[in-house]
Amino acid sequence: MSNEPTKMWSGRFREPLNHQFEQWQRSFPFDWRLLPQEVAASKAHARAIAASGILTEDELASMLAGLDRVLAETALSPALAVEVPNAEDIHHFTELVLTRHIGDLALKLHTGRSRNEQIATDMRLFVRDSIDATVGGLREWALALVALAAQSGEAVMASYTHLQRAEPVLIAHWLLAYVSMIERDISRLEDARKRMNLCPLGSGAIAGATLALDRTIAAQALGFDAPTPNSMDATSDRDFMLDFTQAVSTLGLHISRFAEEITLHATAEFGFIDLPEAFSTGSSAMPQKKNPDLTELIRGKSARLVGAATTLAVLVKGLPLAYNKDLQEGQEPVFDAADTIAGMLSVLPNFTRALKFRLDRMRTAATTGYLNAMAAATYLSNRGVPFRKAHEIIGNAVRLGLETERELDAIPLEELQKLSAAFADDFYAAITVEATLDCHDVIGGTARHRVREALDAAKVRLTSSN
Ligand code: ARG
Repeated sequence: MSNEPTKMWSGRFREPLNHQFEQWQRSFPFDWRLLPQEVAASKAHARAIAASGILTEDELASMLAGLDRVLAETALSPALAVEVPNAEDIHHFTELVLTRHIGDLALKLHTGRSRNEQIATDMRLFVRDSIDATVGGLREWALALVALAAQSGEAVMASYTHLQRAEPVLIAHWLLAYVSMIERDISRLEDARKRMNLCPLGSGAIAGATLALDRTIAAQALGFDAPTPNSMDATSDRDFMLDFTQAVSTLGLHISRFAEEITLHATAEFGFIDLPEAFSTGSSAMPQKKNPDLTELIRGKSARLVGAATTLAVLVKGLPLAYNKDLQEGQEPVFDAADTIAGMLSVLPNFTRALKFRLDRMRTAATTGYLNAMAAATYLSNRGVPFRKAHEIIGNAVRLGLETERELDAIPLEELQKLSAAFADDFYAAITVEATLDCHDVIGGTARHRVREALDAAKVRLTSSN
């Protein structure tokens, strides 16, 4: 081991590196997790240089087998860093271990390539996998919401604007609002995936490989659509990391809104949700408590996602072309965002499936407090009263109800007719909770048959597109 070169670039240097600096600038403590991507990219590069005549068929075969061995023997072993103390980063590590396995042949692997294109490639592969995992998790969560919505049938709840009760909606309609957010998140991630799926290998350090490489060989081997079109951009582009963290931070904002609503609905004051015990915790001090730790933690985790996107944006801002070492700092936020969202999506579907609504309390909230006032005004406007006027008449009826502690449907027709001659017997049928729902009979509205259709359509979209 003492014969191993300590650096990949020591030739022009006479003085040793300052020890603290040496340790501090290493990325191996965190980029070790790119080993699968590094090995895949190295195998693809080996094929490309073999096609250019740098490796014989036999050499290529031992190179590929050696790289597989590096992965198999060291994958995810926490002892890695200890065993190979000289490794500066994952690229250096892979070369050192490969040299142990196949000798000096390993040193041919770096022909026509640079770590600048390697890290750009490894990170693209990592982000691509993370996008796929996130989209998979999102589909599962969306389907859990759809199942809960289907299960809630025609049960109603109050909707809120300004956190004041607004109009009755189907519980299913409320849950589908989150499905809409998730579908936008999925489309943002899929869009990012399409845009990033180009291969930087062959870009060299900045100006392109110094070898007449057929860049399509490596691109194809790694499942990329094509090679990147510009070497200066490809070695310093981190847009795909920005796209990923920004998409995931928007997703985190959506999840935090869900978490906040569940937290609120689980309070004694709302009393709409009974928190599943399997996902709640008690208090060490107050024996009566059941705390919504899952939703609170999720609300907190979303802050880390925004943090990752912000770190990357600030990192890239004002950075001159092309590769700069600053870019090494972009890896950890991406890893953290990927881990954080994976964790959140590992608990959300089961938590969602376990939610129990207190349908009686939700219905009471939806059927008291004049939430049918807009439907009542609509009744008058359907009878020819201009809406502005109808609004005022119903406002007067609500005031009368408030003063005498009666809901609109408890005010007799004679009293209503004193406010407007347009009131008739059929008024009461027009302000039942069902009628109040069904008067919102537009695409995207909470009319019962519209929600049924929306639910079916969501199910189809979420299970068919893949
Ligand atoms: N560890 C480095 C990074 O993550 C790899 C690229 C190093 N390139 C260089 N020219 N020093 O950015």
